[in-house]
Amino acid sequence: MDHLISPSLLAADFANLGNEINMVNDSAADWLHLDIMDGLFVPNITFGFPLLERIKELTVKPMDVHLMIVDPDRYLTRFRDAGANILTVQYEACTHLHRTVTAIKELGMKAGVALNPHTSVSLLKNILPYVDVVMIMSVNPGFSGQKFIQESYNKIEVLREMIDSGGYETLIEVDGGVDMDNAPKLVKMGANVLVAGASVFGASDPAEAIQRLKLLA
Ligand code: DX5
Ligand code: ZN
Repeated sequence: MDHLISPSLLAADFANLGNEINMVNDSAADWLHLDIMDGLFVPNITFGFPLLERIKELTVKPMDVHLMIVDPDRYLTRFRDAGANILTVQYEACTHLHRTVTAIKELGMKAGVALNPHTSVSLLKNILPYVDVVMIMSVNPGFSGQKFIQESYNKIEVLREMIDSGGYETLIEVDGGVDMDNAPKLVKMGANVLVAGASVFGASDPAEAIQRLKLLA
């Protein structure tokens, strides 16, 4: 399959959000990535349900919601009701990950699991059959505009082999520091979804930046 692009709204101009969402609507983007931070799991706080509900009214793209919050089980239904299509939880924030992943799917969403840079993909062996998306964090979560961590390539390579040898359909999503320098290699190594914040919204022509990430040319 062709790889997908999921621009991260965290890097957008929040004073101009309607126009930023329209730009994504009219672009080659496949999903819209929305970062939810609680100030506990990560040292930053972003936005919550009122804004997500408003974004849902404006976007034509599936909402790819990335929860960087402790104990996400408390809010799965509310994120579904706010419009999440893909709901990703952090591996490190879930004590009963199988229960969480099952609940997300029972609510009608695709279930994602994100791994911090220090978390080994080998830990996913027994959950992989149940997961729709694995998100490799290629920065420490919390902020847009950080530098891509090179070790992420090895994690993608190992995960690709785990998915293919198991015969799973799981998508590999890469989040953090993705740009035109590393995107071709990421896709070549088997990444299916590229999240991009600063490299899209910081570009002079963000729609063109999305198009370039999509075409890799
Ligand atoms: C980081 C977030 C990312 C971030 C990506 O914690 O999960 O989605 O917005 O932004 P860039 O592409 O600027 O690293
Ligand atoms: Zn994210």
